[in-house]
Amino acid sequence: MFWGEIAYLIPNSIDTEDEETQMVFAKGKRWKRLRVIINPTFSSLKMKQMAPLIQESVNSFIESMEKRCQEEKPFDIHGDFQGLTTEVIASCGFGLEINSVRDNTSPFLAACRKVFSTSLVMMWPMFISDLFPSLTGLAKVWNKYLMRKTRHDINVLASAAIQSRFNDPKSRRVDLLQLMLDAKTDNLDSTVPQAMTDSDVISTQQGGETGQQNDSSSSQRRVTQKAKLTEKEIQTQCSSFLLAGYETTSTALAYAAYHLATSPEAQKALQEEVDQYCIGEGPPSYDTISKMQYLDMFLKESLRLHPVAPVGPGRTAQESSTVMGVHIPKGMSVRCNIYSIHMDPEHWGPPDPSVFCPERFTAERIAKRHPMAWLPFGAGPRNCIGMRFALMEAKMTLACLVKKFSVESCSETQIPLVHVAKSTVQPEKGVTVRLTRRNVVVNNTE
Ligand code: HEM
Repeated sequence: MFWGEIAYLIPNSIDTEDEETQMVFAKGKRWKRLRVIINPTFSSLKMKQMAPLIQESVNSFIESMEKRCQEEKPFDIHGDFQGLTTEVIASCGFGLEINSVRDNTSPFLAACRKVFSTSLVMMWPMFISDLFPSLTGLAKVWNKYLMRKTRHDINVLASAAIQSRFNDPKSRRVDLLQLMLDAKTDNLDSTVPQAMTDSDVISTQQGGETGQQNDSSSSQRRVTQKAKLTEKEIQTQCSSFLLAGYETTSTALAYAAYHLATSPEAQKALQEEVDQYCIGEGPPSYDTISKMQYLDMFLKESLRLHPVAPVGPGRTAQESSTVMGVHIPKGMSVRCNIYSIHMDPEHWGPPDPSVFCPERFTAERIAKRHPMAWLPFGAGPRNCIGMRFALMEAKMTLACLVKKFSVESCSETQIPLVHVAKSTVQPEKGVTVRLTRRNVVVNNTE
């Protein structure tokens, strides 16, 4: 069965339907309302406004890489990426300056690591509910207990950030929290965009193939409804963005660094593109990043081989239906096997789909491929809301990294990588690499 056929279904829900429901687990009207209110927060305009915040953290990250380079020792770059993505999401999400790039004892980083160090046990309630629908009630209670236990520290931090914004209204800035607070206060009883229809979203997914999402303003029908998030809802979504922003993006970057180190020719091609586009000391702007095609291809190929959240996309049938001859009764849960789609020679060969080859993502080859063949961010109305944010952050980081350094493998690099499934799939022992400084005279023609 192909994913496009089942993108109309909604995700399996194991969360209780209250204010503590994260968007990823919400269903029906609750999900629609959350998605409608929060969608504009991730529009390309808002991303552009947030880019300078990301740039600041990427600058600190590159400074810390200077030290790594001077030390001339192999190091696990996954850990350093975690510091970066925590700082970025704390800054863009909550307006907090936590300096987790320089200080790996930051309480924010510790709280994030605590959640993600928990193994696959976090996913068990979801699997139990999938396999034994009659036990969904038990799975919900279990899920709620796990969420409260593991997320306590994150929730406290999110709550403190919200309170400080309330206490000091002058501290407004363009970040996810402010955008959600504005939605809470400004849009009451006003006209807000309705959730995307399924057909809108199929075309969005085709945009997703090229890293684009429709802005809510341009593509959605409008209805009058109340758009008000409660403080508790904001807290819940903030903490879930914090976790999503920290873990998925740092792991995606770690896998990309592995391919930089083990595919020198691809790294060289990326460096040539970066040399052509990036002038000056600071990180490239949002617009410059958007023009860099090889960077886009490199990252997409890395995410094809390593879709870090492969169990993300799952749906429960709202109606009985038959898809390509397979009967799906109402209430049945369906999960998408992203790995088998991403490794299918019918969509990805030649060369052998197990080989890292960014050239698979040239515009011509994308045009010939099924739009649902690349699914690291899922598909349909429930695709990843943070996709654009994650891609921008990862691209900015990779561009700055290879502009100054070459990432190299060494005897400590695990080749091939061994993976471990926690809440996401990660390299079991991190990604150990060395950095060497590049001496490049940049003749920029942009
Ligand atoms: C490389 C980075 C990331 C990857 C690979 C990733 C992957 C995914 C996947 C596979 C899904 C499920 C999609 C589906 O069911 O069709 C998802 C959903 C989601 N992601 Fe991400 N994600 C990433 C980054 C982020 C970031 C940075 C944020 C927020 C700041 C975020 C927030 C969410 C949310 C809220 C949902 C649920 C959407 C809904 O149910 O409507 N993600 N993500």
